[in-house]
Amino acid sequence: MSERRVRVYRSLEELSIAAAAAIADDLHSAAAELGRATIALSGGDTPRLLHRLLARQHDTLPWERIHVYWGDERYVPHDDPESNSHMARNTLLNYVPVVATHVHPMPTDAPNPDDAARAYELLLEDEFGGLPRFDVMVMGLGADGHTASLFPGSPALKETERWVVPSRASYEPIQRLTMTLPVFNNSRALHFLVAGADKRAALACALGEPTRSCPASLVRPTEGAVTWWVDEAAAGRPADS
Ligand code: 6PG
Repeated sequence: MSERRVRVYRSLEELSIAAAAAIADDLHSAAAELGRATIALSGGDTPRLLHRLLARQHDTLPWERIHVYWGDERYVPHDDPESNSHMARNTLLNYVPVVATHVHPMPTDAPNPDDAARAYELLLEDEFGGLPRFDVMVMGLGADGHTASLFPGSPALKETERWVVPSRASYEPIQRLTMTLPVFNNSRALHFLVAGADKRAALACALGEPTRSCPASLVRPTEGAVTWWVDEAAAGRPADS
């Protein structure tokens, strides 16, 4: 059974500090228990501060045993400013001693995005030996209730077999790759970071009844912890004491 916690903070800075500490704990625990720790990063702007805080723990986290993946990616070159792996390198990975061969960006160079999605699935098969079970997945929330690149009404929401599929956003960059609900719902720990009044309605729907009109509401791991790190503006209520 999954465990869900909602933690409200006064600001993006405070929620990022708390989330960084919890994510660091998850990574330490996994590395100690399993010999390695796997984390899937998200994109957007919200996780930037989280990344910088994790980068400051470069000498305390077991980076030599941490393997980095992405939950979704924009289908642009990895040096494109819109690339999620570009953002993660500039805010985190360039500043920590992660092993280069343990960093697994989603490929975005195949003419057919589905070929790239299938290539990433093969990599995940090699890495996990079956349905991936990430130790940590960092998740964002769009104002429309999307998470990763699972957008409202997307056919990707009905996917029960594929682990990575192409998807299309309604805004640039349109073409995306995204992990699917079977992967997200097999995670050991999901950390959603949500800030800003523009996310209030999306947060309410994400915490409500599961519906394809609000993809984040469908992320309910069978055996994993979900923590929502949110600010007062998104929560519509004062910070927890
Ligand atoms: C992406 C993200 C996406 C993001 C939300 C929130 O590739 O854009 O994975 O799901 O988390 O759109 O983005 P912000 O943090 O910028 O509001």
